[in-house]
Amino acid sequence: MADKNSTNGSSPKPSTQALTTNQGRPVGDNQNSVTAGRRGPITLDDFQLFEKMAQFNRERIPERVVHAKGSGAHGNFVVTHDITKYTSAKLFSKVGNTCPMFIRFSTVGGEKGSADTARDPRGFAIKFYTEEGNWDMVGNNTPVFFIRDPLKFGDFIHTQKREPGSNLKSATMMWDFWSLSPESLHQVTILFSDRGIPDGYRHMNGYSSHTFSLINAAGELHYVKWHFKTNQGIKNLPVEEAEKLAGADPDYSQRDLHHAIERGEFPSWRVQIQVMPESEIDKFKYNPFDLTKVWPHADYPVIDVGVMTLDRMPDNYFAETEQAAFNPSNIVPGMGYSPDKMLQGRLLSYPDAHRYRIGTNYDLLPINARKNAGANYNRDGAMRFDGNYGSLPNYEPNSFGGPAQDPRYTERPYTTSTTLEKIARYDHRENNDDYTQAGDLWRLFDEGQKNRTAKAIADSLGQTPLRIQKLQLSHFKKADAEYASKIASLLGKDQHPEYLHGPDAAELPAAARLPEK
Ligand code: NDP
Ligand code: HEM
Repeated sequence: MADKNSTNGSSPKPSTQALTTNQGRPVGDNQNSVTAGRRGPITLDDFQLFEKMAQFNRERIPERVVHAKGSGAHGNFVVTHDITKYTSAKLFSKVGNTCPMFIRFSTVGGEKGSADTARDPRGFAIKFYTEEGNWDMVGNNTPVFFIRDPLKFGDFIHTQKREPGSNLKSATMMWDFWSLSPESLHQVTILFSDRGIPDGYRHMNGYSSHTFSLINAAGELHYVKWHFKTNQGIKNLPVEEAEKLAGADPDYSQRDLHHAIERGEFPSWRVQIQVMPESEIDKFKYNPFDLTKVWPHADYPVIDVGVMTLDRMPDNYFAETEQAAFNPSNIVPGMGYSPDKMLQGRLLSYPDAHRYRIGTNYDLLPINARKNAGANYNRDGAMRFDGNYGSLPNYEPNSFGGPAQDPRYTERPYTTSTTLEKIARYDHRENNDDYTQAGDLWRLFDEGQKNRTAKAIADSLGQTPLRIQKLQLSHFKKADAEYASKIASLLGKDQHPEYLHGPDAAELPAAARLPEK
Protein backbone atom coordinates (compact mmCIF):
# COMPACT_ATOMS: atom_id res chain seq x y z
CA MET A 1 0.00 0.00 0.00
CA ALA A 2 1.67 3.26 -1.11
CA ASP A 3 1.47 6.09 1.37
CA LYS A 4 0.07 9.31 -0.05
CA ASN A 5 3.06 11.16 1.41
CA SER A 6 5.71 8.94 -0.09
CA THR A 7 7.78 10.11 -3.04
CA ASN A 8 5.53 7.92 -5.24
CA GLY A 9 2.61 10.20 -4.64
CA SER A 10 4.24 13.65 -4.85
CA SER A 11 3.82 15.88 -7.89
CA PRO A 12 6.79 16.30 -10.30
CA LYS A 13 9.37 18.96 -9.50
CA PRO A 14 12.29 20.02 -11.74
CA SER A 15 15.72 19.02 -10.41
CA THR A 16 17.81 21.88 -9.01
CA GLN A 17 20.86 19.89 -7.94
CA ALA A 18 23.75 18.31 -9.80
CA LEU A 19 24.07 14.53 -9.39
CA THR A 20 27.55 13.57 -8.17
CA THR A 21 29.46 10.55 -6.90
CA ASN A 22 30.05 10.30 -3.14
CA GLN A 23 33.25 12.30 -3.62
CA GLY A 24 31.53 15.04 -5.61
CA ARG A 25 32.46 14.18 -9.20
CA PRO A 26 29.57 15.25 -11.44
CA VAL A 27 27.76 12.30 -13.04
CA GLY A 28 27.02 12.47 -16.75
CA ASP A 29 24.91 9.32 -17.11
CA ASN A 30 23.08 7.55 -14.29
CA GLN A 31 21.12 5.20 -16.57
CA ASN A 32 23.74 3.25 -18.55
CA SER A 33 26.82 1.35 -17.32
CA VAL A 34 30.10 1.62 -19.24
CA THR A 35 30.32 -1.38 -21.59
CA ALA A 36 32.77 -2.68 -24.16
CA GLY A 37 30.47 -2.26 -27.09
CA ARG A 38 26.71 -1.94 -27.27
CA ARG A 39 26.04 -5.45 -25.92
CA GLY A 40 28.51 -5.36 -22.98
CA PRO A 41 30.40 -6.68 -20.97
CA ILE A 42 30.89 -3.94 -18.34
CA THR A 43 34.41 -2.55 -17.98
CA LEU A 44 36.24 -2.43 -14.65
CA ASP A 45 36.67 1.34 -14.78
CA ASP A 46 32.94 1.97 -14.15
CA PHE A 47 33.67 3.28 -10.67
CA GLN A 48 30.25 4.87 -10.43
CA LEU A 49 28.48 1.53 -10.87
CA PHE A 50 30.68 -0.18 -8.28
CA GLU A 51 30.22 2.65 -5.78
CA LYS A 52 26.43 2.41 -6.12
CA MET A 53 26.44 -1.38 -5.73
CA ALA A 54 28.84 -1.34 -2.78
CA GLN A 55 26.85 1.32 -0.96
CA PHE A 56 23.64 -0.59 -1.56
CA ASN A 57 25.15 -3.81 -0.17
CA ARG A 58 25.89 -1.99 3.07
CA GLU A 59 22.55 -0.21 3.54
CA ARG A 60 21.38 -2.34 6.45
CA ILE A 61 22.75 -2.17 9.95
CA PRO A 62 21.90 -5.10 12.23
CA GLU A 63 18.32 -4.84 13.43
CA ARG A 64 17.85 -4.42 17.17
CA VAL A 65 18.04 -7.85 18.83
CA VAL A 66 14.69 -6.96 20.46
CA HIS A 67 12.25 -4.13 19.60
CA ALA A 68 13.33 -4.31 15.93
CA LYS A 69 10.10 -2.90 14.47
CA GLY A 70 9.43 0.65 15.55
CA SER A 71 8.17 4.15 14.79
CA GLY A 72 9.70 7.43 15.93
CA ALA A 73 8.40 10.97 16.39
CA HIS A 74 9.71 14.28 17.67
CA GLY A 75 7.97 16.40 20.26
CA ASN A 76 8.17 18.56 23.32
CA PHE A 77 7.93 18.08 27.04
CA VAL A 78 6.50 20.84 29.26
CA VAL A 79 6.78 20.92 33.04
CA THR A 80 3.31 21.61 34.49
CA HIS A 81 3.88 20.95 38.21
CA ASP A 82 6.59 21.84 40.69
CA ILE A 83 8.64 18.82 41.79
CA THR A 84 11.71 20.74 42.99
CA LYS A 85 11.19 19.22 46.42
CA TYR A 86 12.16 15.89 44.81
CA THR A 87 14.77 16.84 42.21
CA SER A 88 17.39 19.45 41.45
CA ALA A 89 17.36 18.58 37.73
CA LYS A 90 17.37 21.87 35.81
CA LEU A 91 14.67 20.54 33.52
CA PHE A 92 12.29 20.59 36.48
CA SER A 93 13.57 23.83 38.04
CA LYS A 94 10.39 25.72 37.20
CA VAL A 95 6.90 25.16 35.91
CA GLY A 96 6.74 26.04 32.22
CA ASN A 97 10.22 24.72 31.36
CA THR A 98 10.23 22.91 28.02
CA CYS A 99 12.55 20.40 26.43
CA PRO A 100 12.69 18.85 22.96
CA MET A 101 12.32 15.05 22.91
CA PHE A 102 12.27 12.10 20.54
CA ILE A 103 10.25 8.93 21.11
CA ARG A 104 10.49 5.49 19.54
CA PHE A 105 7.58 3.10 19.95
CA SER A 106 8.10 -0.54 19.07
CA THR A 107 6.94 -4.11 19.30
CA VAL A 108 9.36 -6.49 21.00
CA GLY A 109 9.59 -9.98 19.57
CA GLY A 110 9.07 -9.51 15.82
CA GLU A 111 11.63 -8.71 13.15
CA LYS A 112 11.94 -5.34 11.46
CA GLY A 113 9.20 -6.12 8.93
CA SER A 114 6.82 -7.86 11.34
CA ALA A 115 3.20 -6.84 11.92
CA ASP A 116 2.50 -3.90 14.23
CA THR A 117 -0.63 -5.56 15.63
CA ALA A 118 1.02 -8.57 17.34
CA ARG A 119 0.13 -9.46 20.92
CA ASP A 120 3.35 -8.20 22.45
CA PRO A 121 4.45 -5.51 24.89
CA ARG A 122 5.16 -2.16 23.22
CA GLY A 123 8.40 -0.26 23.70
CA PHE A 124 8.08 3.35 24.87
CA ALA A 125 11.58 4.85 24.61
CA ILE A 126 12.04 8.59 25.05
CA LYS A 127 15.11 10.78 24.70
CA PHE A 128 14.80 14.17 26.43
CA TYR A 129 17.47 16.58 25.14
CA THR A 130 17.93 18.55 28.38
CA GLU A 131 20.38 21.38 29.05
CA GLU A 132 22.28 19.03 31.40
CA GLY A 133 22.62 16.17 28.92
CA ASN A 134 20.29 13.56 27.50
CA TRP A 135 17.83 11.82 29.78
CA ASP A 136 16.55 8.57 28.26
CA MET A 137 13.45 6.90 29.63
CA VAL A 138 13.47 3.46 28.00
CA GLY A 139 10.15 2.05 29.14
CA ASN A 140 7.35 -0.18 27.96
CA ASN A 141 3.56 0.13 27.82
CA THR A 142 3.34 -2.18 30.85
CA PRO A 143 4.28 -1.30 34.44
CA VAL A 144 6.01 -4.67 35.09
CA PHE A 145 8.19 -7.21 33.27
CA PHE A 146 8.42 -11.01 32.83
CA ILE A 147 11.58 -11.57 34.86
CA ARG A 148 13.43 -9.91 37.72
CA ASP A 149 17.02 -11.02 37.15
CA PRO A 150 18.93 -9.90 34.02
CA LEU A 151 20.71 -13.25 33.93
CA LYS A 152 17.49 -14.65 32.46
CA PHE A 153 16.91 -11.98 29.79
CA GLY A 154 18.58 -13.77 26.87
CA ASP A 155 16.81 -17.03 27.70
CA PHE A 156 13.47 -15.27 27.94
CA ILE A 157 13.93 -13.44 24.64
CA HIS A 158 14.90 -16.67 22.88
CA THR A 159 11.41 -17.97 23.72
CA GLN A 160 9.83 -14.92 22.05
CA LYS A 161 11.84 -15.35 18.85
CA ARG A 162 12.07 -18.39 16.59
CA GLU A 163 12.53 -22.04 17.49
CA PRO A 164 16.12 -22.99 16.56
CA GLY A 165 15.25 -26.02 14.41
CA SER A 166 12.07 -25.06 12.60
CA ASN A 167 12.61 -21.27 12.56
CA LEU A 168 8.96 -21.00 13.64
CA LYS A 169 7.49 -19.08 16.58
CA SER A 170 6.63 -21.55 19.31
CA ALA A 171 3.92 -21.36 21.97
CA THR A 172 5.64 -24.29 23.68
CA MET A 173 8.90 -22.37 24.17
CA MET A 174 7.01 -19.42 25.65
CA TRP A 175 4.81 -21.36 28.05
CA ASP A 176 7.61 -23.74 29.00
CA PHE A 177 9.67 -20.75 30.12
CA TRP A 178 6.75 -18.88 31.73
CA SER A 179 5.45 -21.94 33.58
CA LEU A 180 8.94 -22.55 34.98
CA SER A 181 9.35 -18.84 35.84
CA PRO A 182 6.23 -17.90 37.80
CA GLU A 183 7.52 -14.36 38.34
CA SER A 184 6.26 -13.82 34.78
CA LEU A 185 2.60 -14.31 35.76
CA HIS A 186 1.80 -10.65 36.38
CA GLN A 187 3.17 -9.54 33.01
CA VAL A 188 1.63 -12.56 31.26
CA THR A 189 -1.78 -11.52 32.65
CA ILE A 190 -1.35 -8.02 31.20
CA LEU A 191 -0.07 -9.42 27.89
CA PHE A 192 -3.12 -11.63 27.37
CA SER A 193 -5.56 -8.97 28.59
CA ASP A 194 -7.14 -6.43 26.23
CA ARG A 195 -4.08 -4.18 26.69
CA GLY A 196 -1.93 -6.88 25.06
CA ILE A 197 -2.87 -5.50 21.61
CA PRO A 198 -3.00 -1.68 21.74
CA ASP A 199 -4.78 0.11 18.90
CA GLY A 200 -1.68 1.84 17.50
CA TYR A 201 0.82 3.74 19.59
CA ARG A 202 -1.29 6.78 20.47
CA HIS A 203 -3.78 4.94 22.66
CA MET A 204 -1.52 3.33 25.22
CA ASN A 205 0.27 4.38 28.40
CA GLY A 206 4.00 4.20 28.99
CA TYR A 207 5.77 3.23 32.22
CA SER A 208 9.37 3.35 33.43
CA SER A 209 8.46 0.03 35.01
CA HIS A 210 11.73 0.21 36.96
CA THR A 211 12.14 2.23 40.10
CA PHE A 212 14.50 5.16 39.61
CA SER A 213 15.40 7.89 42.10
CA LEU A 214 15.20 11.66 42.27
CA ILE A 215 17.55 13.74 44.38
CA ASN A 216 16.78 17.26 45.53
CA ALA A 217 19.08 20.24 46.16
CA ALA A 218 19.46 19.21 49.81
CA GLY A 219 20.67 15.76 48.73
CA GLU A 220 17.47 13.98 49.82
CA LEU A 221 16.57 10.94 47.79
CA HIS A 222 13.12 9.68 46.82
CA TYR A 223 12.43 6.59 44.78
CA VAL A 224 10.07 7.09 41.85
CA LYS A 225 8.21 5.21 39.16
CA TRP A 226 7.37 7.16 36.00
CA HIS A 227 3.98 6.95 34.27
CA PHE A 228 2.99 8.39 30.86
CA LYS A 229 -0.80 8.45 30.60
CA THR A 230 -2.29 8.79 27.15
CA ASN A 231 -4.57 11.80 26.61
CA GLN A 232 -6.10 9.94 23.64
CA GLY A 233 -7.62 7.34 25.97
CA ILE A 234 -6.75 3.64 26.13
CA LYS A 235 -7.91 1.80 23.00
CA ASN A 236 -7.15 -1.80 22.15
CA LEU A 237 -7.73 -3.96 19.10
CA PRO A 238 -9.98 -7.02 19.20
CA VAL A 239 -8.02 -10.18 18.32
CA GLU A 240 -9.84 -10.77 15.01
CA GLU A 241 -9.23 -7.19 13.88
CA ALA A 242 -5.56 -7.38 14.85
CA GLU A 243 -5.12 -10.62 12.91
CA LYS A 244 -6.80 -9.11 9.85
CA LEU A 245 -4.60 -6.01 10.02
CA ALA A 246 -1.45 -8.12 10.38
CA GLY A 247 -2.07 -9.24 6.80
CA ALA A 248 -3.76 -6.18 5.28
CA ASP A 249 -1.66 -3.42 6.86
CA PRO A 250 1.31 -4.70 8.87
CA ASP A 251 2.49 -1.08 9.33
CA TYR A 252 -0.81 -0.09 10.96
CA SER A 253 0.70 1.68 14.00
CA GLN A 254 3.33 3.55 11.96
CA ARG A 255 0.63 4.72 9.54
CA ASP A 256 -1.71 5.76 12.36
CA LEU A 257 0.99 7.84 14.08
CA HIS A 258 2.25 9.37 10.85
CA HIS A 259 -1.19 10.38 9.61
CA ALA A 260 -2.37 11.71 12.98
CA ILE A 261 0.65 14.03 13.22
CA GLU A 262 0.25 15.03 9.57
CA ARG A 263 -3.38 15.96 10.26
CA GLY A 264 -2.24 18.16 13.15
CA GLU A 265 -3.72 15.79 15.74
CA PHE A 266 -0.71 15.84 18.01
CA PRO A 267 -0.85 12.98 20.51
CA SER A 268 0.06 13.81 24.08
CA TRP A 269 0.69 12.08 27.39
CA ARG A 270 0.47 13.30 30.98
CA VAL A 271 3.78 12.59 32.71
CA GLN A 272 3.38 11.47 36.32
CA ILE A 273 5.42 9.96 39.15
CA GLN A 274 4.77 7.75 42.13
CA VAL A 275 7.10 8.73 44.99
CA MET A 276 8.49 6.59 47.82
CA PRO A 277 10.69 8.24 50.46
CA GLU A 278 14.02 6.46 50.98
CA SER A 279 13.04 5.74 54.59
CA GLU A 280 10.13 3.55 53.44
CA ILE A 281 11.98 1.00 51.30
CA ASP A 282 11.98 -1.67 54.00
CA LYS A 283 8.41 -0.92 55.11
CA PHE A 284 6.80 -1.64 51.72
CA LYS A 285 5.18 -5.08 51.59
CA TYR A 286 7.26 -6.08 48.54
CA ASN A 287 10.76 -5.34 47.41
CA PRO A 288 10.20 -1.85 45.91
CA PHE A 289 12.90 -2.60 43.32
CA ASP A 290 11.25 -5.79 42.05
CA LEU A 291 10.34 -5.19 38.40
CA THR A 292 7.52 -7.76 38.51
CA LYS A 293 5.56 -5.63 41.02
CA VAL A 294 3.69 -2.33 40.84
CA TRP A 295 3.37 0.12 43.69
CA PRO A 296 -0.39 0.15 44.36
CA HIS A 297 -1.94 3.52 43.56
CA ALA A 298 -3.67 3.58 46.95
CA ASP A 299 -0.28 3.41 48.74
CA TYR A 300 1.64 5.62 46.30
CA PRO A 301 -0.68 7.90 44.32
CA VAL A 302 0.48 9.32 41.00
CA ILE A 303 1.56 12.97 40.98
CA ASP A 304 1.42 15.11 37.83
CA VAL A 305 4.73 16.42 36.51
CA GLY A 306 4.26 17.52 32.92
CA VAL A 307 2.89 16.91 29.46
CA MET A 308 4.63 15.39 26.45
CA THR A 309 3.31 16.17 22.96
CA LEU A 310 4.43 14.67 19.63
CA ASP A 311 4.26 17.11 16.73
CA ARG A 312 6.76 16.10 14.04
CA MET A 313 7.62 12.90 12.20
CA PRO A 314 11.28 12.28 11.33
CA ASP A 315 12.39 13.59 7.93
CA ASN A 316 14.34 10.39 7.41
CA TYR A 317 13.45 7.08 9.03
CA PHE A 318 16.93 5.55 8.95
CA ALA A 319 18.84 8.62 10.15
CA GLU A 320 16.52 9.24 13.06
CA THR A 321 14.36 6.27 14.06
CA GLU A 322 16.67 3.43 13.01
CA GLN A 323 19.85 5.04 14.32
CA ALA A 324 18.27 6.23 17.57
CA ALA A 325 20.11 4.63 20.47
CA PHE A 326 18.51 4.81 23.91
CA ASN A 327 20.35 4.07 27.16
CA PRO A 328 18.62 3.66 30.53
CA SER A 329 21.99 4.82 31.89
CA ASN A 330 21.40 8.31 30.45
CA ILE A 331 20.18 10.34 33.41
CA VAL A 332 20.91 13.92 34.46
CA PRO A 333 21.99 15.52 37.78
CA GLY A 334 19.09 15.35 40.24
CA MET A 335 18.27 11.78 39.16
CA GLY A 336 19.65 8.38 40.10
CA TYR A 337 19.20 4.68 39.45
CA SER A 338 17.94 2.18 42.02
CA PRO A 339 19.08 -1.20 43.33
CA ASP A 340 16.81 -2.96 40.77
CA LYS A 341 18.95 -5.81 39.39
CA MET A 342 17.23 -5.68 36.03
CA LEU A 343 18.03 -1.99 35.73
CA GLN A 344 21.70 -2.64 36.46
CA GLY A 345 21.75 -5.30 33.73
CA ARG A 346 20.25 -2.80 31.32
CA LEU A 347 22.69 -0.02 32.24
CA LEU A 348 25.47 -2.18 30.79
CA SER A 349 23.57 -3.88 28.00
CA TYR A 350 22.30 -0.95 25.93
CA PRO A 351 25.53 0.99 25.23
CA ASP A 352 27.14 -2.38 24.42
CA ALA A 353 24.30 -3.15 21.96
CA HIS A 354 24.71 0.25 20.28
CA ARG A 355 28.47 -0.14 19.86
CA TYR A 356 27.75 -3.37 18.00
CA ARG A 357 24.64 -2.24 16.08
CA ILE A 358 25.75 1.29 15.13
CA GLY A 359 29.40 1.70 16.10
CA THR A 360 31.71 3.12 18.75
CA ASN A 361 30.71 6.71 18.08
CA TYR A 362 26.95 6.11 17.96
CA ASP A 363 26.33 8.94 20.39
CA LEU A 364 27.75 11.54 17.99
CA LEU A 365 25.02 10.90 15.42
CA PRO A 366 22.62 13.87 15.28
CA ILE A 367 19.65 11.93 16.71
CA ASN A 368 21.71 10.76 19.69
CA ALA A 369 23.95 13.79 20.23
CA ARG A 370 23.49 15.81 23.40
CA LYS A 371 22.43 19.41 22.88
CA ASN A 372 24.44 20.86 25.78
CA ALA A 373 28.12 21.78 25.70
CA GLY A 374 30.58 19.36 27.24
CA ALA A 375 33.85 17.56 26.65
CA ASN A 376 35.88 14.58 27.84
CA TYR A 377 39.00 12.61 26.99
CA ASN A 378 37.41 9.78 24.96
CA ARG A 379 38.80 9.92 21.43
CA ASP A 380 39.05 8.31 18.01
CA GLY A 381 37.34 5.09 16.96
CA ALA A 382 35.65 4.09 13.72
CA MET A 383 33.61 6.81 12.01
CA ARG A 384 34.67 9.63 14.32
CA PHE A 385 33.03 12.31 12.20
CA ASP A 386 33.17 15.36 14.47
CA GLY A 387 36.41 17.31 15.00
CA ASN A 388 37.58 14.76 17.64
CA TYR A 389 38.33 17.73 19.97
CA GLY A 390 41.04 19.00 17.63
CA SER A 391 44.36 19.60 19.38
CA LEU A 392 42.96 19.73 22.92
CA PRO A 393 44.75 17.45 25.41
CA ASN A 394 43.53 13.85 25.36
CA TYR A 395 44.57 12.87 28.90
CA GLU A 396 43.70 13.86 32.43
CA PRO A 397 44.92 15.31 34.75
CA ASN A 398 46.58 17.93 32.56
CA SER A 399 47.82 21.47 33.09
CA PHE A 400 46.52 22.84 29.77
CA GLY A 401 43.02 23.82 30.89
CA GLY A 402 41.25 20.66 29.72
CA PRO A 403 37.81 19.76 31.07
CA ALA A 404 37.82 19.04 34.80
CA GLN A 405 35.57 17.16 37.20
CA ASP A 406 33.14 19.09 39.39
CA PRO A 407 32.45 17.51 42.82
CA ARG A 408 28.93 18.99 42.83
CA TYR A 409 27.98 16.19 40.46
CA THR A 410 29.37 13.25 42.40
CA GLU A 411 26.73 10.51 42.67
CA ARG A 412 24.80 10.58 45.91
CA PRO A 413 25.48 7.45 48.01
CA TYR A 414 22.41 5.29 48.61
CA THR A 415 21.52 2.24 50.62
CA THR A 416 20.07 -0.88 49.06
CA SER A 417 18.49 -1.99 52.31
CA THR A 418 18.73 -1.01 55.95
CA THR A 419 20.24 -4.42 56.77
CA LEU A 420 23.79 -5.32 55.76
CA GLU A 421 23.92 -8.42 53.59
CA LYS A 422 26.74 -10.36 52.02
CA ILE A 423 27.54 -10.19 48.31
CA ALA A 424 26.18 -13.45 46.86
CA ARG A 425 23.75 -14.94 44.34
CA TYR A 426 20.46 -14.61 46.23
CA ASP A 427 17.47 -16.60 45.01
CA HIS A 428 15.03 -13.97 43.77
CA ARG A 429 12.11 -16.42 44.19
CA GLU A 430 12.70 -17.07 47.88
CA ASN A 431 9.92 -15.60 50.05
CA ASN A 432 8.56 -13.77 47.05
CA ASP A 433 4.93 -13.50 46.05
CA ASP A 434 4.47 -13.99 42.32
CA TYR A 435 0.72 -14.32 42.50
CA THR A 436 -1.14 -11.60 44.44
CA GLN A 437 -0.69 -8.72 42.01
CA ALA A 438 -1.49 -10.89 38.98
CA GLY A 439 -4.65 -11.90 40.85
CA ASP A 440 -5.42 -8.28 41.74
CA LEU A 441 -5.33 -7.41 38.06
CA TRP A 442 -7.58 -10.34 37.15
CA ARG A 443 -10.08 -9.30 39.83
CA LEU A 444 -10.34 -5.76 38.45
CA PHE A 445 -11.21 -7.01 34.93
CA ASP A 446 -14.91 -6.92 34.05
CA GLU A 447 -16.58 -10.13 32.90
CA GLY A 448 -15.91 -9.37 29.23
CA GLN A 449 -12.18 -8.79 29.72
CA LYS A 450 -11.93 -11.90 31.93
CA ASN A 451 -13.45 -14.01 29.16
CA ARG A 452 -11.31 -12.49 26.40
CA THR A 453 -8.12 -12.87 28.48
CA ALA A 454 -8.92 -16.50 29.33
CA LYS A 455 -9.65 -17.27 25.67
CA ALA A 456 -6.44 -15.63 24.43
CA ILE A 457 -4.45 -17.66 26.97
CA ALA A 458 -6.27 -20.92 26.20
CA ASP A 459 -5.75 -20.43 22.44
CA SER A 460 -2.02 -20.12 23.00
CA LEU A 461 -1.48 -22.48 25.95
CA GLY A 462 -3.62 -25.12 24.24
CA GLN A 463 -0.86 -25.57 21.63
CA THR A 464 1.62 -26.84 24.23
CA PRO A 465 2.24 -30.30 25.79
CA LEU A 466 -0.19 -31.24 28.57
CA ARG A 467 2.46 -31.19 31.29
CA ILE A 468 3.17 -27.51 30.52
CA GLN A 469 -0.55 -26.69 30.60
CA LYS A 470 -0.81 -28.44 33.96
CA LEU A 471 2.05 -26.47 35.52
CA GLN A 472 0.83 -23.15 34.15
CA LEU A 473 -2.75 -23.80 35.35
CA SER A 474 -1.42 -24.29 38.86
CA HIS A 475 0.08 -20.79 38.69
CA PHE A 476 -3.20 -19.24 37.50
CA LYS A 477 -4.93 -21.00 40.39
CA LYS A 478 -2.55 -19.49 42.92
CA ALA A 479 -3.36 -16.03 41.50
CA ASP A 480 -7.12 -16.54 41.45
CA ALA A 481 -9.23 -19.73 41.41
CA GLU A 482 -11.65 -18.29 38.86
CA TYR A 483 -8.74 -17.28 36.60
CA ALA A 484 -7.58 -20.92 36.49
CA SER A 485 -11.01 -22.46 36.16
CA LYS A 486 -12.03 -20.28 33.21
CA ILE A 487 -8.89 -21.28 31.31
CA ALA A 488 -9.18 -24.93 32.38
CA SER A 489 -12.73 -24.99 31.08
CA LEU A 490 -11.66 -23.59 27.69
CA LEU A 491 -8.87 -26.17 27.54
CA GLY A 492 -11.38 -28.92 28.40
CA LYS A 493 -9.53 -29.65 31.64
CA ASP A 494 -12.23 -28.51 34.05
CA GLN A 495 -13.38 -32.08 34.57
CA HIS A 496 -9.88 -33.05 35.69
CA PRO A 497 -9.09 -31.32 39.00
CA GLU A 498 -5.58 -32.81 39.02
CA TYR A 499 -4.72 -30.33 36.27
CA LEU A 500 -5.05 -27.46 38.70
CA HIS A 501 -2.71 -29.03 41.27
CA GLY A 502 0.42 -28.75 39.19
CA PRO A 503 3.33 -31.18 39.16
CA ASP A 504 5.29 -32.37 42.20
CA ALA A 505 8.42 -30.38 42.92
CA ALA A 506 10.55 -33.35 41.88
CA GLU A 507 9.09 -33.18 38.37
CA LEU A 508 10.40 -29.66 37.88
CA PRO A 509 13.77 -28.85 36.31
CA ALA A 510 16.32 -27.67 38.87
CA ALA A 511 16.16 -24.08 37.60
CA ALA A 512 12.52 -23.80 38.65
CA ARG A 513 13.02 -25.15 42.20
CA LEU A 514 14.02 -23.26 45.30
CA PRO A 515 17.44 -24.25 46.66
CA GLU A 516 17.62 -26.66 49.60
CA LYS A 517 18.16 -24.80 52.86
P1 NDP B 1 -5.90 0.49 41.05
O1 NDP B 1 -7.28 0.02 41.01
O2 NDP B 1 -5.60 1.80 41.70
O3 NDP B 1 -5.26 0.53 39.60
C1 NDP B 1 -5.64 -0.35 38.62
C2 NDP B 1 -4.93 0.06 37.38
O4 NDP B 1 -4.95 -1.03 36.51
C3 NDP B 1 -5.60 1.16 36.56
O5 NDP B 1 -5.30 2.41 37.07
C4 NDP B 1 -4.96 0.92 35.21
O6 NDP B 1 -3.66 1.52 35.20
C5 NDP B 1 -4.67 -0.55 35.24
N1 NDP B 1 -5.40 -1.40 34.31
C6 NDP B 1 -6.70 -1.47 34.03
N2 NDP B 1 -6.92 -2.42 33.10
C7 NDP B 1 -5.74 -2.96 32.80
C8 NDP B 1 -5.32 -3.98 31.92
N3 NDP B 1 -6.15 -4.65 31.14
N4 NDP B 1 -4.01 -4.27 31.86
C9 NDP B 1 -3.13 -3.61 32.64
N5 NDP B 1 -3.48 -2.64 33.49
C10 NDP B 1 -4.78 -2.33 33.57
O7 NDP B 1 -5.10 -0.70 41.73
P2 NDP B 1 -3.58 -0.95 42.09
O8 NDP B 1 -2.70 0.23 41.93
O9 NDP B 1 -3.61 -1.60 43.43
O10 NDP B 1 -3.19 -2.05 41.01
C11 NDP B 1 -3.96 -3.24 40.84
C12 NDP B 1 -3.44 -3.91 39.61
O11 NDP B 1 -3.53 -2.98 38.53
C13 NDP B 1 -1.95 -4.23 39.71
O12 NDP B 1 -1.72 -5.49 40.25
C14 NDP B 1 -1.50 -4.11 38.30
O13 NDP B 1 -1.66 -5.36 37.66
C15 NDP B 1 -2.46 -3.13 37.65
N6 NDP B 1 -1.80 -1.84 37.39
C16 NDP B 1 -1.34 -1.07 38.42
C17 NDP B 1 -0.58 0.05 38.15
C18 NDP B 1 0.06 0.80 39.26
O14 NDP B 1 1.01 1.55 38.98
N7 NDP B 1 -0.42 0.71 40.49
C19 NDP B 1 -0.33 0.50 36.77
C20 NDP B 1 -0.95 -0.32 35.76
C21 NDP B 1 -1.59 -1.48 36.09
P3 NDP B 1 -3.32 2.92 34.53
O15 NDP B 1 -3.98 3.95 35.39
O16 NDP B 1 -1.84 2.99 34.59
O17 NDP B 1 -3.87 2.85 33.14
C1 HEM C 1 15.73 -2.56 23.39
C2 HEM C 1 18.27 -5.34 26.42
C3 HEM C 1 14.65 -5.16 29.64
C4 HEM C 1 12.58 -1.69 27.02
C5 HEM C 1 16.70 -3.38 23.91
C6 HEM C 1 17.91 -3.76 23.24
C7 HEM C 1 18.62 -4.53 24.08
C8 HEM C 1 17.87 -4.66 25.30
C9 HEM C 1 20.00 -5.15 23.84
C10 HEM C 1 18.29 -3.35 21.82
C11 HEM C 1 18.97 -2.01 21.86
C12 HEM C 1 19.40 -1.52 20.50
O1 HEM C 1 19.96 -2.30 19.74
O2 HEM C 1 19.17 -0.31 20.22
C13 HEM C 1 17.52 -5.51 27.56
C14 HEM C 1 17.95 -6.25 28.73
C15 HEM C 1 16.92 -6.22 29.62
C16 HEM C 1 15.85 -5.45 29.02
C17 HEM C 1 19.31 -6.91 28.89
C18 HEM C 1 16.80 -6.82 30.99
C19 HEM C 1 17.82 -7.18 31.72
C20 HEM C 1 13.80 -4.17 29.24
C21 HEM C 1 12.74 -3.62 30.04
C22 HEM C 1 12.17 -2.62 29.29
C23 HEM C 1 12.86 -2.57 28.02
C24 HEM C 1 12.39 -4.07 31.45
C25 HEM C 1 11.04 -1.70 29.65
C26 HEM C 1 10.75 -1.33 30.88
C27 HEM C 1 13.25 -1.64 25.81
C28 HEM C 1 12.88 -0.77 24.72
C29 HEM C 1 13.78 -1.03 23.69
C30 HEM C 1 14.70 -2.05 24.15
C31 HEM C 1 11.74 0.22 24.71
C32 HEM C 1 13.79 -0.37 22.32
C33 HEM C 1 14.51 0.96 22.37
C34 HEM C 1 14.41 1.62 21.03
O3 HEM C 1 13.29 1.99 20.64
O4 HEM C 1 15.45 1.76 20.37
N1 HEM C 1 16.68 -3.96 25.16
N2 HEM C 1 16.25 -5.04 27.77
N3 HEM C 1 13.85 -3.51 28.02
N4 HEM C 1 14.35 -2.40 25.43
FE1 HEM C 1 15.30 -3.70 26.59
